[in-house]
Amino acid sequence: MHENKALWLHTKRAPLTVGPAPYTAPGADEIVVRVRAVAVNPMDRLQQTMGDIFTPWTKYPFVVGSDVAGEVVEVGSSVTRFAVGDRVLGYAAGSDKQRNRAAEGGFQHYVVLLAHMATPIPATLSFEEAAVLPLGLSTAACGLFQKDFLAMMAPLAAPTCAGKTLIVWGGSTSVGSNAIQLAVAAGYDVITTASPRNFDYVKRLGARLAFDYRSKTVISDIINALRGREIAGALAIGIGSAAACIDIVGACEGKRFVAMATPATSFDNVPAGRGRLLRLVPAIARMLAGTIMQTLKARRHGVRIKMIWGSALIANEVGPMIFETFLPSALAESRFVAAPNPTVVGTGLAQIPVALEAQRQGVSATKLVVTL
Ligand SMILES: NC(=O)c1ccc[n+]([C@@H]2O[C@H](COP(=O)([O-])OP(=O)(O)OC[C@H]3O[C@@H](n4cnc5c(N)ncnc54)[C@H](OP(=O)(O)O)[C@@H]3O)[C@@H](O)[C@H]2O)c1
Repeated sequence: MHENKALWLHTKRAPLTVGPAPYTAPGADEIVVRVRAVAVNPMDRLQQTMGDIFTPWTKYPFVVGSDVAGEVVEVGSSVTRFAVGDRVLGYAAGSDKQRNRAAEGGFQHYVVLLAHMATPIPATLSFEEAAVLPLGLSTAACGLFQKDFLAMMAPLAAPTCAGKTLIVWGGSTSVGSNAIQLAVAAGYDVITTASPRNFDYVKRLGARLAFDYRSKTVISDIINALRGREIAGALAIGIGSAAACIDIVGACEGKRFVAMATPATSFDNVPAGRGRLLRLVPAIARMLAGTIMQTLKARRHGVRIKMIWGSALIANEVGPMIFETFLPSALAESRFVAAPNPTVVGTGLAQIPVALEAQRQGVSATKLVVTL
């Protein structure tokens, strides 16, 4: 029998603590993976500090974490794509409202994954490299391919040229690194923003042009670069990205749609404990004001905006399209790279809170990873 351990969130806003966890056998369409590496995301942190507001459905005690890589130890009765011993990466879907299950949270030694949200890892990739992909890739795919978002053509091994340009604001983020690659694999031209130190990085991923999002002229520079071109819409990542993308998309020809990954304001500085109200109340006020201003601005410019929920693809055709159809051969043939590069923070579940705090302090074109 497998002895499991997890990083528990025992109740809302509690500190994350390591403790024993049950081993859960897979359902028919699931696999169990011995996790060897996890990556941390802003949402993992916010589920602890802001879970009562952002994920009020959470059943405690809970295990958070979305990004895992490891070895398959058990497969469900209907699973044909995987066998015991396979190296896989996968999206741990426990935090999704429909799943809402500690057994499916990534921050534990043995996790239950939906088989259609897992992909074999080629021999050329380490667990640490592979773990950077799931949530960033899923969020990008939700914005680009879902029918009620940008509804772009699917990524293929040999795409036909769409003749359209996608704007990815925040190309050096984890979500942006995946969005650039997915859009190029679907046959689109990509214009992105990043800090100048990351221009080469985003161009290596396939962006044709990169602009500094801190420049005072960035919006007009991008609008000028898009003259005479048809746009496929915009993926807005990072604080302030939605407002900028509304200005750009509203001034261009083509799809007037902004898929938003980031809310109007940051809750990064709201603590789980002491001093919470003092930070929370102004953050909520900024969020409401920012959301109303974004909505009014979009209406004025004739642009549709919509917030992405990064796990939505598990319940529609986009999940299998990415994890079953596109990613396995794209990774194996290096047509798609695991980006951004991992930075390993440490080993063991107790290092995950350290990685989450380092993530809160800010990263640039890297993903923080913990090995287990
Ligand atoms: N809606 C969802 O379901 C969902 C899911 C996942 C993530 N997200 C959100 O998506 C965003 C990105 O997450 P992530 O994990 O991909 O981030 P990340 O990789 O941790 O982001 C780090 C990067 O952010 C860039 N950046 C910082 N401020 C920016 C700004 N104002 N505009 C554009 N880029 C900026 C930095 O670029 P430079 O170093 O080049 O300056 C840095 O490379 C976060 O807001 C996160 O909460 C949403």
